Amino acid sequence: MWRRPSHANNELDMYWAPIVRRRVIFRTMLLGAALAAVAGAGCVEHHEQSMLHPAGPAAARIDQLWWFLLIVCGGVFLVTMGLLVAALAARPTPNNESPLGMRFIVGSGIVLPGIILLVILIHSLQATVALKASQAEPLAIRVIGHKWWWEVHYPQQNITTANEIHLPAGRPVRFELRAADVIHSFWVPNLGGKMDLLPEHDTILWLQADHPGVWRGQCAEYCGGPHAQMAFPVVVHEEEDFAAWVEANQGPVSEPETARLQTGHDVFFRAACHNCHAIRGTEAAGRIGPDLTHMGSRRTLGAAAVVNDHERLVAWISDPQVDKPGNFMPRSSLSREELETLADYLLSLK
Ligand code: CUA
Repeated sequence: MWRRPSHANNELDMYWAPIVRRRVIFRTMLLGAALAAVAGAGCVEHHEQSMLHPAGPAAARIDQLWWFLLIVCGGVFLVTMGLLVAALAARPTPNNESPLGMRFIVGSGIVLPGIILLVILIHSLQATVALKASQAEPLAIRVIGHKWWWEVHYPQQNITTANEIHLPAGRPVRFELRAADVIHSFWVPNLGGKMDLLPEHDTILWLQADHPGVWRGQCAEYCGGPHAQMAFPVVVHEEEDFAAWVEANQGPVSEPETARLQTGHDVFFRAACHNCHAIRGTEAAGRIGPDLTHMGSRRTLGAAAVVNDHERLVAWISDPQVDKPGNFMPRSSLSREELETLADYLLSLK
């Protein structure tokens, strides 16, 4: 590393300065390229949670705005850096006058940025208006954000579920969002933009999925503790498959069909799970934790913390703090056999 000698004079400065500048510029460019590569690597994989792979009109609109901003701002950045390099490499002029003149400074420093910012503003406002527009015959879904899970209601279909959202393809959906405690943010990047969930105030978000598939939603506002594990799958069906899902999820659960399932059912109540969880068709009506009616048909546990299968469910009930540290569900003191039968019962609720 070159250090300025204490006896530096103008002649030495003239000799060293350009070399130091070139090193600084080279290293800055290297750092920029490395950062861009890291950021780009995150976008290539994981299409199920990516705003760069739009699967609905709102997301397509945001994607288009994003590319427009990237290209315009990237162009401005490159031109500015080019001018900076040219200025650093230029030989000093007599009296430090600009070689390009005052007209260039006013034009490129005031007029051009003004025009570019105005175009960006108009584009952004157009997108905002389009995203907020109401649509005909929507499906209504009410989502309530809790620390750290999602309560989901379909008021028209009389369905209550949690941590998983099912949609029909090609139909507009009007999400009514609310928070039960602190501010959360509802975000399904493949389908559209983010919307905050606020305590005591509804916010509205319009989304539509173009085709069947499974995407991942995520809380996008830091809400303490396991905020990063406050996620949910969004399952998009063809219209007739969605109707089948509605039918399967509308009714209460049926009585346990075998002695083993009955034992699991009894463990559920003996362990006081019903104080926090509801299962329609049983005495369980707790509202503190997620509704467990039909939880056997859900893909994940703990708001997409882990996959929903027998082994994971046993581990989850035994100690939910392992897979999702900080969540409010306490460890249980059930025996292995009790855990197994309870898991069998819960997974039978389809
Ligand atoms: Cu809820 Cu972050």
